[in-house]
Amino acid sequence: MSSQIDHLLTENRRFAPSPEFAADAVATADLYAQADADREGFWAEQARALHWHTPFSQVLDWSNPPFAQWFADGELNVAYNCLDRHVEAGNGDRVALLWEGEPGDERRVTYAELTDEVKRAANVLRGLGVEAGDRVAIYMPMIPEAIAAMLAVARLGAVHSVIFGGFSADSLRTRIDDAGAKVVITADGGYRKGRVSPLKPAVDQALADRGAGPQGTVEHVLVVRRTENEVGWTEGRDIWWHDAVPAASGEHEAQAFPAENPLFILYTSGTTGKPKGILHTSGGYLTQATFTNKVVHDLHPETDVFWCTADIGWITGHSYVTYGPLSNGATQVLYEGTPETPHPGRWWELVEKYGVTVLYTAPTAIRSFMKLGRQIPQQFDLSSIRLLGSVGEPINPEAWMWYREIIGADAAPIVDTWWQTETGSIMVSALPGVTETKPGSAQVPLPGIGVDVVDDQGEHVGNGNGGLLVLTQPWPSMLRGIWGDPERFVETYWEKFQNKGYYFAGDGARLDEDGDVWFLGRVDDVMNVSGHRLSTTEIESALVGNEAVAEAAVVGASDETTGQAVVAFVIVKQSYLSAHEPEGLADALRKWVGEQIGPIARPRDIYIVGELPKTRSGKIMRRLLRDVAEGREVGDTTTLADTAVMSVISAQVK
Ligand code: WTA
Repeated sequence: MSSQIDHLLTENRRFAPSPEFAADAVATADLYAQADADREGFWAEQARALHWHTPFSQVLDWSNPPFAQWFADGELNVAYNCLDRHVEAGNGDRVALLWEGEPGDERRVTYAELTDEVKRAANVLRGLGVEAGDRVAIYMPMIPEAIAAMLAVARLGAVHSVIFGGFSADSLRTRIDDAGAKVVITADGGYRKGRVSPLKPAVDQALADRGAGPQGTVEHVLVVRRTENEVGWTEGRDIWWHDAVPAASGEHEAQAFPAENPLFILYTSGTTGKPKGILHTSGGYLTQATFTNKVVHDLHPETDVFWCTADIGWITGHSYVTYGPLSNGATQVLYEGTPETPHPGRWWELVEKYGVTVLYTAPTAIRSFMKLGRQIPQQFDLSSIRLLGSVGEPINPEAWMWYREIIGADAAPIVDTWWQTETGSIMVSALPGVTETKPGSAQVPLPGIGVDVVDDQGEHVGNGNGGLLVLTQPWPSMLRGIWGDPERFVETYWEKFQNKGYYFAGDGARLDEDGDVWFLGRVDDVMNVSGHRLSTTEIESALVGNEAVAEAAVVGASDETTGQAVVAFVIVKQSYLSAHEPEGLADALRKWVGEQIGPIARPRDIYIVGELPKTRSGKIMRRLLRDVAEGREVGDTTTLADTAVMSVISAQVK
């Protein structure tokens, strides 16, 4: 990698933990030493923080890699751990969910109430024939019943497959079929952007032409009433939640299931077309989700108000909305709607209203708030915030600093957490109160986690160098496979470094002089320009560092002379446009990137656009931008949050 690129990565700001924060922090530095001394013993100790109906005697079975078993002879009930045990410990009156609907309706759900709801829902599902191992699809808005549904399925030892509410009927059908779901739990709709976003019609469409019975696996659809829009009804198949659940018995004793009993399937997109059903199991998953939520989010369940803004349709929502916080007995905010509805300060209003202490969100959200300007969050009292988290993509130093200064009052530590759907929980992150943080770096593997950055042969690259991120040791919440496709599991993650037995994450990373990890984006987004390796993330970071730029996406477009060329799509800040002429800006930015990183990184083309194509989870779809940059017809846009955005961009580029 050229020395100019290293220049951008030489981010010298450092933030030591404050003594006050450290004094009361859950994490302590000796966790690393404990885990180093006895890795399996360390994880066994974390697992013992859960309630085991049958204690385990064996920790890790890695006799048949890459198929791991953790705590295999132990038995537990995941829902019991998230609910009953808190009620039995006398915390039934603690609020589990501080829910707010997009229109402003509110519900406070205590642990006792949630336990009662889940027991009834479990009885309903049992009555519909759901047994351990059966699959149940969940297609819901962010309402308390969504969480109750997940836990009711888990309570029966059945397997949920949550499908993000923004997915189309087609995606829903593919996922229902792949998992062979017996029941679908949905709602009439949810509120998004000030409107009813219907859900039940998509379920009907996904199940159409096959109905219940022999062709399809779905026997019943359980429907929560939320938005009261008209819905179609299939007698005998469809059941209202409000008819069935309150009428069911509130008695339900949680049965024990083996630690390796499947807990959920979650579909995620790979490099090829077909989504992969990532499979997670019970004991190891819950152990690591619980532990990481506690130490990385510094969770004090008696006093904290935690808010992870992710939708339950994503892994972040599974681990840090449903399982981690509830297993820890925490109080959390659950918000149904979009950040800008009905006004752009909605999130900050919620932080103030509920006194959120720990906020966990994504860089893309932070950057869009930056774009709107600091005056919006500054209208609210955010003084309750004491810790901030970031997840989902590399966070550029500018966004990190804005997050710290504007949201965290220049005091709250930031934990930049790296992990994946496949890893199940956080793997690389600073520990608040322990680690001196660096803007833009996820930094260090958590205690008990083995991480390295290696070259194509699997050799450690050494400090100061870039390479591929690998996980060198099995971890408790690791995926146990791809649903129905063990070969793809082995091929995708384990074949590349078979000789070393490493898990290949698909991320580029660099080790700095201290050995801290800086993530550079997916290796599929790495460009090769005239034989130089460049990361899209680095150039985006440089662009966003310019005063004129609100957001940037960079792609490598094929180029006759240089192999690939850098093409940038840039959104300019409103404040800049109102004071400057846009003429000459593209040239100035090209020069700027050249100055920041080096001439090799200078974009061949810079297009000023109004929007970027994003998935509903906020990831920029570079593939589509590459189509535009290479003058091709734009590919499949169905997973975009706003499918019209590409025609606007194509027109702007012409
Ligand atoms: C990226 C989300 C840099 C990474 C939990 C990974 C990150 C992919 C970070 C997984 C981070 C996630 N810094 N990159 N802190 N967190 N990523 O499965 O490329 O939706 O491979 O899981 O997101 O995305 P997924």
